Amino acid sequence: MSATLVEVLRKTQVDAQIQRIEARLVREGSMVPPAVVHEWVESAWSRFSRARVQAFVPLLVERTVRSWLAACPAGRLRDWARDTAERMLATELPVRWAHTQGVAGRAEEVAWLFPAEDREMLIAAAWLHDIGYASQLMETGLHQLDGARFLTRQGLPARVCALVAQHSGAAAVAALVGLSDELAAFEDERSPVRDALWYSDMTIGPEGRPLSFAERLAELRGRREPGDPVILALHYNGDERAAAVRRTEALLEARTRLPIAGH
Ligand SMILES: [Fe+2]
Repeated sequence: MSATLVEVLRKTQVDAQIQRIEARLVREGSMVPPAVVHEWVESAWSRFSRARVQAFVPLLVERTVRSWLAACPAGRLRDWARDTAERMLATELPVRWAHTQGVAGRAEEVAWLFPAEDREMLIAAAWLHDIGYASQLMETGLHQLDGARFLTRQGLPARVCALVAQHSGAAAVAALVGLSDELAAFEDERSPVRDALWYSDMTIGPEGRPLSFAERLAELRGRREPGDPVILALHYNGDERAAAVRRTEALLEARTRLPIAGH
């Protein structure tokens, strides 16, 4: 048998084993959504893709994912997200923590618009969106990117990392500070869920109080220096932020008007 054929057979075996492991982890009753378990399996697997003894990879993947599952306090992504954000922000940046709690509350308010899996992603991303302000996570100074990189290292679903990375017009700020290439590692999904995250961030003030979009912009301009990249970036991302808020409000309005099926 040629070496290539042996390799192909071995790879097929490893693939099948990992699929069984994933099914088992999902079945074992954890409240982590199956899509999240899948993301974690993929993420752990990619870490070991160059392992010398490929036969050990399934075992290593299983151990890694189990450790991530165990790190989820109540087994739910949103609980892990809240606890992690609290640990990173509450003491060092209490005002940012108050804002974060407000944004997560807002996201919970609108989450009913989406299917269960999307809801979990939105709420987790809302808890985690400003985590990159924590000094221990500061790497580039672009909080969206620093937060997303930390979450990637923690093995969070790529979707949550990308929602955090791209939230509230991050791309325009990244362009101004020369971090576009780094931020491009995370895709902006430009979806209603992404809009809802931006909406949640753009309608809650720095102390966690609800604000209109206009009030939020005014408070941003009043709080930051005119030369701050966040303020300069408003020239490029202001319309996009407004559009995300408008689309979410329109969705809320349309869905509120819909008769509830079966009633
Ligand atoms: Fe925020």
